[in-house]
Parts: sequence; C-alpha cells; structure tokens
Amino acid sequence: MCGIVGYIGNQRASSVLVEGLKRLEYRGYDSAGVCVYQNGELNICKDSGRVMAMAEQIADDVRFTAGTIGIAHTRWATHGEPNQTNAHPHTDAGGRIALVHNGIIENYATLKQFLEGKGHCFRSQTDTEVLVNLVSEFYNDGSNSLEEAVRPALHEVTGTYGIAVMCLDEPEKIVAARKGSPLIVGVGTDEYIVASDASAIIAHTSNVIYLNDNELVVVTRDGMRTLTLDNVPVTKQVEQIEWSLEEIARGGFDHFMLKEIFEQPEVVGNCLRGRLDLRDCRIQLGGLDGVRRELVKTRKVVISACGTAWHAGLVGEYLFEDLARVPTEVEYASEFRYRNPIIEEGTVFLSISQSGETADTLAALREAREKGALSLGIVNAVGSTIARETDGGVYIHAGPEIGVASTKAFTCQLAVEAMMALMLGRRRFMSQNSMNTYMEALSRVPEQIERTLEQSDRIREVVADYVGYDNWLFLGRGYQYPIALEGALKLKEISYIHAEGLPAAEMKHGPIALIHEGMPVVFIAPRCATYEKIVSNIEEVRARRGRVIAVATEGDERITRYCDHVFYVPDTLAPLQPMLTVVPLQLLAYHAAVARNCNVDKPRNLAKSVTVE
Ligand code: F6R
Repeated sequence: MCGIVGYIGNQRASSVLVEGLKRLEYRGYDSAGVCVYQNGELNICKDSGRVMAMAEQIADDVRFTAGTIGIAHTRWATHGEPNQTNAHPHTDAGGRIALVHNGIIENYATLKQFLEGKGHCFRSQTDTEVLVNLVSEFYNDGSNSLEEAVRPALHEVTGTYGIAVMCLDEPEKIVAARKGSPLIVGVGTDEYIVASDASAIIAHTSNVIYLNDNELVVVTRDGMRTLTLDNVPVTKQVEQIEWSLEEIARGGFDHFMLKEIFEQPEVVGNCLRGRLDLRDCRIQLGGLDGVRRELVKTRKVVISACGTAWHAGLVGEYLFEDLARVPTEVEYASEFRYRNPIIEEGTVFLSISQSGETADTLAALREAREKGALSLGIVNAVGSTIARETDGGVYIHAGPEIGVASTKAFTCQLAVEAMMALMLGRRRFMSQNSMNTYMEALSRVPEQIERTLEQSDRIREVVADYVGYDNWLFLGRGYQYPIALEGALKLKEISYIHAEGLPAAEMKHGPIALIHEGMPVVFIAPRCATYEKIVSNIEEVRARRGRVIAVATEGDERITRYCDHVFYVPDTLAPLQPMLTVVPLQLLAYHAAVARNCNVDKPRNLAKSVTVE
C-alpha cells in the first residue's frame, strides 16, 4: 500500500526520505519517488521498482546532495500501471507544485475534464496528477498561499487522501492533509517528519501528532500549524509512539512472519496483562469503561471486519453467543457498507482491524454509526482511524505486525474477544465459579502457545512431504470452523497453494468429490463436544484415500490411527482452543511457503494495509 514521507530539518533530506521509504517497504509497493528542493529547483527522481534502485540513482546526483526539505512516496498502483510516469511525486503542468498522495480520488475524471477545459495538460493516468493540477488552479500563480490553494482543492475532492505538498515559490514549507488515509507528523529537534506510518518516523523521534480527517498541517522550519479544511485552527497534543525500532526489526528470525508467530506467547500475555483480575474475578477493559451501562443492555452484536480479522470475528460469534448469550452476526465489512443494513436498538457494532485503517472496515463502521449503533473497536494500531472513530474499544497490544500475513494480531484479537464475552457474560448471568474457571484457563494460554510452538521443526519436516500438492482442504467444526478458514487463507496467501476451509460436516454435501490420494486434508480436531463427529469425518476421508493431517489435543493417541500426521496442542476449554489450534496452521503455511521459495513477508499482489476499496 502507498507510503508517504516528508522532511524539513538540517539533515540531507534525500537520505532521511529514502530511509523512511525503506521502513515503509513492508506495506507493499510497486514504485518509489522523491522530490527535494535544492538550488531553486524541485528535483524529482521516481521510477517503478524498489526503493533501493531509486536510492542508487540519486546517491551521486548533485541535485539531491544538499537539500534539506523534500517529500517522497512508495506507490501501490490504483490508477494506471506501475511505471515511471505514474509514480509519485506528481507536479502540476507548470512544475511549480509537487504532491504525493495515498488514497483514491473518486471524482478525478470529472475534475480532469474541468481542468483540461482550463488548459491543464496531463502526462500520467493517475488521479494524483489531477489533484496537483487542481491545487495549482487554486494557487492561481501565487495569488494564494500553498495552504490557501490546498484547502479549496480538497473541498472539491470526493474520495480518500493523505497528501504532502511542496511549492517552488514557498520552498521552506510542506503542507499535508488527510481524509480516510493516515498521516502523522514527527516532531524532532529542529526537524519535522511527515509520514503515513510511524515506522518512518521513530528513528528520528517518538514525539508525534496525529492528523484527523479533514485536517491540514502547515510545516515550516519554525514550527507547524494545524487547521481544518475550513480554516479553523486546531490545537494538537504531541503524543508518544510506544513502539521502538528494535521491535520492528526481525529479531533474528528469517522472516517477520516467523518472528511474529513466535512472539505470540509474549503478545497474548501483554494483551491479557492488567486485564485479568483473578483475585477479584473480574475482567477490566479500560477502553470500555465509558460505555459500561450501554454494554450490559446489548441486545445484539454485529461484528464487521475483513480477511483474517473477519475470521477472528467468526470465532467471536461463537464466543459472544456461548459465553455472553448475546445474539451475534458477523459481516464482511465490504458487503455491510453497501447493503443498507438494519441496525436495531441495542446493537453493538464491533469493528476488528489490526491496522485500524482498512477502508472497508472503516466505511462499515461509519455506516453503522450513522444508523445509531454503539460502535466498538478491537484494534492494534494505536491512534489509527478506527480506534479514534469508535465509541469505545480495546487495543490488542500485539506490537507492529509487519509480515503481510496476519498471525499474532489474530491470536490477540481472539484473546480480546474472549475477555469481552466473559466480561459481558459475567455482568449478565455467568456465575463467579464459571468466570473463575475461564479466567484461569485464559491466563494459561500464553504458556500453552509456547508449548505448541515447540513443534515448529517437526511441522517443517512433515510439510516437506506435502509441498508438491497444489490443493488442500481444511475442515473443522464449531469453534474450529473459523480456524479451518484461517488455516486455508494462511496457506494460500503466502505459498500460493490452493486451499479451502469448510465446516467439516459440509464436506459430504459436495466437496467430498474432490477427495483422492492427491488431496491433503487438515482436520482441526481438539477434544470437544463434536470430537466423535469429526473422527467420523476423518474416516470418510480415509476411506477415499485422502491424506490426513490433524491438529489434536495432547494425549489423544486414538486419533493417530486415522491420520498420517498429528500436531498437538495443550488441553484447554473449547472457547479458548482457537488461540492454540491456529498456531500449527500458521507454522504449516509458513514452512510450506519457505519450501516453495515464496517471498513470505511480501507475498505477491498483497499489501499489509488495504486502505483503498
Ligand atoms: C491476511 C490478512 C488480511 C487482513 C485484512 C484486514 O493474513 O492479513 O486478510 O486480515 O486485510 O486487515 P486489518 O486487520 O488491518 O483490518
């Protein structure tokens, strides 16, 4: 996904910008570009391909060696193919204004027509070039200041944007603004860094301000000024970024994904820390304090999310109905937002998002709020848009998740859902005894994940036998059905193996036709109420010569009779099992991808944060 960095200070801008872009690489991109003001010129270098290639181009270029102000971008194509012309920064036809942009200008075709009528010429296929020409139209050859031109231009725009803009006539200034696409300003000593993501800032400072939608910031060497698009001054608090650079580095693992899988005992522990009060048998979720009364009266929970977070939502449906006895529905955010959904009184709308910036999840949240729902969030990125736009919520504290395939965020999302369901259940009907049993079991989960991870090497050996298979099935029942979906998604997104997840009993309604000796079938079969039924499903697959891998409960010897391989997880209560059973599946997908020489941390066609539709 696109990334923005801007710099004003005393250092060589090109170095700071390139370093920032490198830190944003994990988000996924196809082109990179930089603009540095030096010797009375806006010097631009941009191309499709890697940031490093662009960095090499400018390293010895004298136009980039002395400038101390500039903007830069990594692009993930939305309008026009990834090539040099379409890469950012874009300039207006006169070359006096340069702009980088994340997001999508939906009415760019209409605006382009209008601008062409005014004599503007276009070189690229991008919506961004339309925007910079629109700014230039309002700039009106300098009769307005840059910010006075940016504001009305943005008023004309339908869509989403995070932008940073420079102007040749006002070279000691960066104007940045946002709507629906994140933007942060790092406040250093005699320097400012504008960025779409904290990871581009923290090498310089941990002091930041977060821009809200429809806000604009004017940054100069002397300071910065924030205002709304309607020119109302806004006072901003400088906040601290909690994540260190070290947290973002790979920590000795071959890939971020593996590092993040192995971080799960620690981050799930962090997520539970201070929230499970075993002594008083209470769960404390500070982010929900402001909505306590409304929560007790909840009549229905609607969970909305995308991808892996949606799978977490499906587990949530079982948890909220089972532990809190609240009717729950799970929605794909992308469907919900366009469906004219019915929100009844007493509905709690729960958005789940690692990044807190996913465009569909955010739009669904806004739709639900518009219709009067109490909105809550389960989010990782502190200060992200979803976190800020919900009435209350719980951070998962998973730390930065850089591997494109979500792993540790998922287990933490499950931990938070379990806590929310228990808290709600206890306030409504759950006995102190049951609550105690669940809370104690929950507090053991981090150590149980640790034990499960010990099988990583064995899973790698087993997977080596299977990497030639191109089609896999993942089957589970009850709490394990969403885990079957998640296991299949992990495998396909990083190893490009086709995989499907299904409720195990659905197999006989069609998919059983696929079973033969060339089809590995993964059963998620811990001990639970439907254990005997899933064993019957395993036998059905065996009878058709399918190869069976099972995830089962430690000590279950019987299951080995029906399976080629078994990976074990420690015993726990059924509602908490998904936090354990997903772990061998994450490792299976990881080792399969490595064995197939796939780029685990940057799978093809995927980006970490999907901030466009
Ligand atoms: C899959 C994956 C995606 C995300 C989805 C939602 O491994 O990471 O499916 O879960 O794009 O992202 P967030 O949670 O940031 O809203």
